Amino acid sequence: MPDIQAILKQMTLEEKAALCTGASTWTTTPVERLGVPAITMTDGPHGVRLVADVNSLSSQTLPATCFPTASCQASTWNVDLIYQMGQAIAEECIALKVDIVLGPGNNMKRTPLCGRNFEYYSEDPYLAGEMASSHIRGVQSKGVGTSLKHFAVNNQEFKRFSINAEVDERTLREIYLSAFETAVKKGKPWTVMCAYNKLNGAYCSEHHQLLVDILKQEWGFDGLVVSDWGAVHDRVAALQGGCDLEMPGPQPRRVQAVVEAVRSGALDEAVLDEAVRRILNIIFKAAETPKGGTFDVDAHHELARKIAAEGMVLLKNNGILPLKQVRRLAVIGRSAMHPHFQGGGSSHINPTRVSIPYQELQNAAPEAELTYAEGYPADDRYQPALIEQAVEHARSADVALLFIALPGYKESEGYDRPDLDLTAQQIALIKAVSRAQPNTVVILNNGSAVTMSEWLNDPAAILEGWMMGQAGGAAIADILFGKVNPSGKLAETFPLKLSDTPAYLNYPGENGVVRYGEGLYIGYRYYDAREMPVLFPFGYGLSYTTFTYSNPRVSASTFKDVEGVVVSVDVTNTGSLPGKEVVQVYVHDRKSTLARPPKELKGFAKVELQPGETKTVSIPLDFRAFAFYHPGYRQWVTENGEFDILIGASSADIRCTQMVTLQSTLSLPSLLNRESTAREWMEDPLGRPVFEPVFRQIAEEMRRLMGASGPESEGLGMDVMGMLMDMPILSIFYFAQQALPQTPEEMVDQLLSQVNKK
Ligand code: BGC
Repeated sequence: MPDIQAILKQMTLEEKAALCTGASTWTTTPVERLGVPAITMTDGPHGVRLVADVNSLSSQTLPATCFPTASCQASTWNVDLIYQMGQAIAEECIALKVDIVLGPGNNMKRTPLCGRNFEYYSEDPYLAGEMASSHIRGVQSKGVGTSLKHFAVNNQEFKRFSINAEVDERTLREIYLSAFETAVKKGKPWTVMCAYNKLNGAYCSEHHQLLVDILKQEWGFDGLVVSDWGAVHDRVAALQGGCDLEMPGPQPRRVQAVVEAVRSGALDEAVLDEAVRRILNIIFKAAETPKGGTFDVDAHHELARKIAAEGMVLLKNNGILPLKQVRRLAVIGRSAMHPHFQGGGSSHINPTRVSIPYQELQNAAPEAELTYAEGYPADDRYQPALIEQAVEHARSADVALLFIALPGYKESEGYDRPDLDLTAQQIALIKAVSRAQPNTVVILNNGSAVTMSEWLNDPAAILEGWMMGQAGGAAIADILFGKVNPSGKLAETFPLKLSDTPAYLNYPGENGVVRYGEGLYIGYRYYDAREMPVLFPFGYGLSYTTFTYSNPRVSASTFKDVEGVVVSVDVTNTGSLPGKEVVQVYVHDRKSTLARPPKELKGFAKVELQPGETKTVSIPLDFRAFAFYHPGYRQWVTENGEFDILIGASSADIRCTQMVTLQSTLSLPSLLNRESTAREWMEDPLGRPVFEPVFRQIAEEMRRLMGASGPESEGLGMDVMGMLMDMPILSIFYFAQQALPQTPEEMVDQLLSQVNKK
């Protein structure tokens, strides 16, 4: 690594300004005079999408392995597998001479309608944070950079370039920033890509609080912030806000604006220097990895197959799967021949090869007789003749394998889905085929939740195949014939209907604003709190074997927050096939000052077990597993008290519970103020002792004044104490003025000073 500071010193103002904007769509601006090379960035995230000529606008891309997209990856709950995928992507980058691959995408799935959900991991920040960290560490272990995106709160495609997402501070920290925080701290990405949208009034590309205060200072991010492509509006404001590198380029006017801003004093040159320093650091880090050569196409295809098979989720099975000695198989549905394995937009990869489900089924069962019927067209037209033909095939077979993929254009970057439904043709097809053939298995390909209530009961089995990557066809055959025992579990809730979903009333916003009114309650946090039924819960997925959980235990029943606790459970494979189980640990706070979701995922582990085998799974829970973000303190806090640790096979299938008592090591000042209510004073450990004696007297006086002899005031028919408890004490004092030795304000301030002294 050369002396960055020395290079920076030699750079002219013009060179520095130019370095902060790309030279082309995918490359940075070199400074040949000083030996600063250009580096190449490209999409991302589930493979390398490199245009044949990085200096042209052409979208012709070079072949690379298309891995399953993030929804499928997250459903593996297998961080090691995602790490391996990262390494494979890095090897392809090296071969294709790419320095930084743009991903992973780590935004929360706030609504299942978001067009880009297939590129994101989960509705849960813990799971997403772990997945993103593994992806990043895998790629970067080979000396290739990543770009964690889209920072932040880019949870819909509708008006993504301009929408102002209004999110309260606690929700922002606990839900929308948390997965990024984990990925930044654990994964240490070389770059972070800021989002297009506005967050609470400011463009993310100019958001000082987001990019500088939180990302760089609080989280210690030492890489560079790159703009999403075209996200910069005002280059000078973006530099001031912490956006180091603007992409794409060239943008000579923007560069000139920076030069002029420094000359006029509008932009502090130190701000520019800091951006340049960060960019140079990454450029030279990238230059340390020699590029070129080839990659192992076959091995990567096999890895893609393994990830796909492990990410597919068996949603329903009456016992028909795995398939046994089938003679006649009716393969129905376009996607059996034209697999739908990735989504639309900048992540669209030119695959090295594609496994065709129909062929893979034949390979897996060479003795079986296969027939094929298209079943539905590529778009959403209704074609009854195709259904009739499919039914004929289904009737004359032993089993029907019905491949249902959402039309390719439905899930894409740039726009959202209008609904969560399959096409009318597909629904009618599932119903008709299931009626004709009781042994019907539906295999779905989609990137995010779809509704199924209309047809859920009809087929014998349902496999969620996701956007399964180029080897997905083989992975489907692996699962259907039992070569692989399914072990994927949903990383997002499947709702019964769209109007049940958490953001339903607040999405997509209007007048340029989308208000995150559901707050912390997205995904299972919402359905849990509302006690609502769902189609399939978060964390759910079937296996061909069964698992029991026993002997739950914790390392300490009372523990200090900073020390955390380890929770263990024995898991036994009680079925007859080897399999993998995802053990999930949720935390429930029995009582807290601020409302909390009923439970939150704070740990998980995937364990492989032979039939009859038992393994102990141990999952550590740290400070953050118990903490919440307190907007009053503007920090993560823990509170003394009891927590339930819920160990489950899904969010709706809790197998054991352990109670622990947390001792907080924080000593926080009181947040009481003139507007705090009597209840808040009484519940505050510092407030209660000073307030209680005064309150007793005043309450007595008030009851007397209001003519209350029993619990109720005779005149008003109300519970006087009930009313007082929720009044600010200043207001209580106003009513009791005559009985007070001092003014109400003096009284309250005196109590406050006693509290603050403590
Ligand atoms: C997308 C990014 C992508 C970039 C470069 C943008 O439109 O939002 O995810 O990395 O383009 O293609």
